Amino acid sequence: VRSLKRRLIAWLIGLLTVVGLGAGGVSYWLARNDANALLDEQLRQIASHVGAVRAAPAAPRPESEEARENDFVVQVWDAGGALRSVSRPGFALPRHRATGFSQGFIGHQPWRVYTLNEPGRTVQVSQWIEVRREIAASAAMRAMLSVIVLIPLAWVLVIVAIGRILRPLDAVTKAASQRGAADLDPLPVEALPTELVPLVRAMNELLARLRDAIDAQRDFLSDAAHALRTPLAALQLQLENLSASRDQDDLEARIGEMRRGLGRASRLVGQLLGMAHFEAEAAQDGRVGVALGAIAKDAIAGLIPLAEDRGIDLGMVRDEAAVVMAKPSDIRMLVDNLIDNAVRYTPSGGRVDVGVSQQDGEPAISVVDSGPGIAPELLPRVFDRFFRVAGQDIEGSGIGLSIVKAIAEREGARVELANRREGGLVATVTFSRAV
Ligand SMILES: Nc1ncnc2c1ncn2[C@@H]1O[C@H](COP(=O)(O)OP(=O)(O)OP(=O)(O)O)[C@@H](O)[C@H]1O
Ligand SMILES: [Mg+2]
Repeated sequence: VRSLKRRLIAWLIGLLTVVGLGAGGVSYWLARNDANALLDEQLRQIASHVGAVRAAPAAPRPESEEARENDFVVQVWDAGGALRSVSRPGFALPRHRATGFSQGFIGHQPWRVYTLNEPGRTVQVSQWIEVRREIAASAAMRAMLSVIVLIPLAWVLVIVAIGRILRPLDAVTKAASQRGAADLDPLPVEALPTELVPLVRAMNELLARLRDAIDAQRDFLSDAAHALRTPLAALQLQLENLSASRDQDDLEARIGEMRRGLGRASRLVGQLLGMAHFEAEAAQDGRVGVALGAIAKDAIAGLIPLAEDRGIDLGMVRDEAAVVMAKPSDIRMLVDNLIDNAVRYTPSGGRVDVGVSQQDGEPAISVVDSGPGIAPELLPRVFDRFFRVAGQDIEGSGIGLSIVKAIAEREGARVELANRREGGLVATVTFSRAV
């Protein structure tokens, strides 16, 4: 049974039943002992108060069968040992010697006997043990029953009480289940029992994280839409201009402009897709040992055409064995973005050097360029989504470094951007998870 409530009820009912039966048994035993003691006391008292029987035996009364069975039988002997009186005719239990209780037999019937030796006579009072048993048992039964009838009552109380105690749980469940998908406000904690507070707090923290994630998605979507609007509007304008063009040269120029605009837009879409893809994946999936050198070489090979186009000398200057536990596609996206930036922002004739190193057990990859670098006050901001340094004519969407930062966080790496004294930028990613 998975239900706590049912388990609680089952355990408590079982417990109460066992305890109730035990208590019934004990009260049965106590009541029977009490009854026996009482009957003995009666025997003793009768024996010491039968002074009147010293006279001749009274004429035997006509007795019903039942009365005879329940009666005490009194026998009196004189000092000489002659039976002087007996309350039931024909009753022939022998005289016991010592004063006190004993057991006698008539046939196979056991009798409880009290013998009292007095100066000049002996009084003996007897009672059939079967009768005593019945009296004691019925007294004991009554005592036990009064305890046992309480057991079902206790069950009812247990069920009612547990229902009441667990009611706050139902209340929380109801509060949570009545929520709409958009309502991510914390569940109320005030009226809750202490045991439930940590659970509901944890749920509230989860709700808060969910809300942050949804907010982030919404921001991303509206940022992306904004970013797309500009190049699309430009394209539209260029298209309209196209029909107004006079001669062949003008047409060529405008088509070239449009081509560049389309390139911008599709690059932006590519970056956005990369980001959306990256954000949708679960963080822990697909970690393997990744050789940084191999990834760097692949990335360089992919960017060589761009570098040649721009007149940049792109190459690998250091290639130490460095393996990290990470997602290969993540590392590739990170390295691609860093080298892409270096190649794009470095003016023609410059150089971009990529290096992979492992020092003190920390794998690192660095991209060094001979470009303009980034103004120190803007260094912290270039990682923001859609942030671009103003006044540059190189195309871009401002997403690249924010992807780099997000990947580094996910893979437990740190990214540092620094300006070189001789000009240019050094981007270094240092991993803590070496293999
Ligand atoms: N190597 C670099 N040298 C000089 N400036 C850089 C360099 N790398 C990045 N920057 C500056 O940081 C800004 C943000 O870079 P980021 O890669 O995030 O966006 P982007 O290159 O403009 O667009 P995207 O990479 O998404 O196409 C760039 O606009 C650029 O001004
Ligand atoms: Mg970039």
